[in-house]
Amino acid sequence: MNILNMDKMEKIISLCKRRGFIFPGSEIYGGLANSWDYGPLGVELKKNIKDEWWELFVRGRGDMVGIDAALIMNPKVWEASGHVKEFTDPLVECKKCHQRFRVDQIYENWDKLQAEEKDVWHAPPCPNPNCRVMENWSPPLSSPKKFNLLFKTFLGPTEDASAEVYLRGELAQAMFVDFPNVLQTTREKLPFGIASQGRVFRNEITPGNFIFRTREFDLMEFEYFVRESDWQKYFEYWLEEMKKWLFHVGVKKDHLHFHEIKDGERAHYSKRTVDIEYDYPFGQKELYGLAYRTDFDLKNHQEKSGQNLTYTDKENGEKFLPHVIEPTFGVDRTVLVALLEAYHEEEVEGETRVILKFPHWMAPYKVAVLPLSKKPELSTVAEKICDDLRKNFVCDYDETQSIGKRYRRQDEVGTPFCITVDFDTLNDQAVTVRDRDTMKQDRIKIEDLKNYLNGKLQ
Ligand code: GAP
Repeated sequence: MNILNMDKMEKIISLCKRRGFIFPGSEIYGGLANSWDYGPLGVELKKNIKDEWWELFVRGRGDMVGIDAALIMNPKVWEASGHVKEFTDPLVECKKCHQRFRVDQIYENWDKLQAEEKDVWHAPPCPNPNCRVMENWSPPLSSPKKFNLLFKTFLGPTEDASAEVYLRGELAQAMFVDFPNVLQTTREKLPFGIASQGRVFRNEITPGNFIFRTREFDLMEFEYFVRESDWQKYFEYWLEEMKKWLFHVGVKKDHLHFHEIKDGERAHYSKRTVDIEYDYPFGQKELYGLAYRTDFDLKNHQEKSGQNLTYTDKENGEKFLPHVIEPTFGVDRTVLVALLEAYHEEEVEGETRVILKFPHWMAPYKVAVLPLSKKPELSTVAEKICDDLRKNFVCDYDETQSIGKRYRRQDEVGTPFCITVDFDTLNDQAVTVRDRDTMKQDRIKIEDLKNYLNGKLQ
């Protein structure tokens, strides 16, 4: 298909597969329910995003510490947190085609209905177009049921109720459960945060839209502990910091929307939530969330575990449960918006040039070294340049196909600088450095390359 006729999501999905960013999971067996694997370039991209986040929000601040907790926790954690009871989506099933749907995704006003109205809900026709062509059914959809999103598994060799555990549905709980250990070992003073990154699992009813909604995904989030009287101040502060991070990722201001979630529509633990939404090609939907979790979690864990989770003010000895502001950042949605923002097409000499204009810090390769020909006198010099640069920058080495095709390939994966080694290099000890965005070329002495690139790759 001509790339100009494809929609943006199709183009991104195709580029991700073609260039090794993201592949369909278990592809040789026909895939598995919208699961995706990160390939060699995707893994670098994702790692750069996670590392940058950690540098900015954890190492770069004096008021944040990290943890890395177990994926499977004592099931009492999920009972105390309310997830066993409340972490649900409303599910309906078509009695004819047996497809299942999330009610709030097929019936726009679902969240606005009162509980009594939900009980007498009039089912709309089945949204499956193949089902719709078969006339005369009644009634098409079942009444809604609460469907719990936690994945269950068994710990150890016996598969009975006593061995039942959950894969974590969010990172947050470990940061509450580990709160007293962190306090004792770090001597942090309020306000301070505990940060974490890692995989979470949710048995979503309808995963879809590439990596937007999957059943396992990576999160980066922190719980920021404050005095109750300060929560509004820090809520506003973190909303601004989240915006700054998104601009740093390359997101344009106009593509963002801030959605104040109304009473009755928030997660069970939240007293205020702002969803940061993004204009995806498939509609305006959630990218990140910011929640005021009050002392809901610490209070419940203190009650259910019987352990003291209070904080003691070092100056006046006052003991209390801190309140919590929680900024949460989906990693895979960050990857998706980074790709959408970076994707550009330009017409150059009758051809479409596709470029991923990633911010330099995010690009999987920073530099590509391209000898003009495969002749040994050039490749020996080019390999040596690449080996030297590799000590400081992530480099690709490519000597296949014409130089034009190799430039296009590097543009498509977002490499900021291409270094061409040509026959003049053997005489002048210099190379051509081409800038991805401007296509401008500079002739630089090999001995000055490292300084030149360091200056450019800020
Ligand atoms: N601790 C709070 C929490 O987990 P959430 O809104 O349920 O909050 C956090 O999820 C973030 O995880 C979302 O803002 C979104 O970026 C991402 N996310 C949620 N469900 C997802 C899914 N099924 N696939 C990919 N990312 C998802």
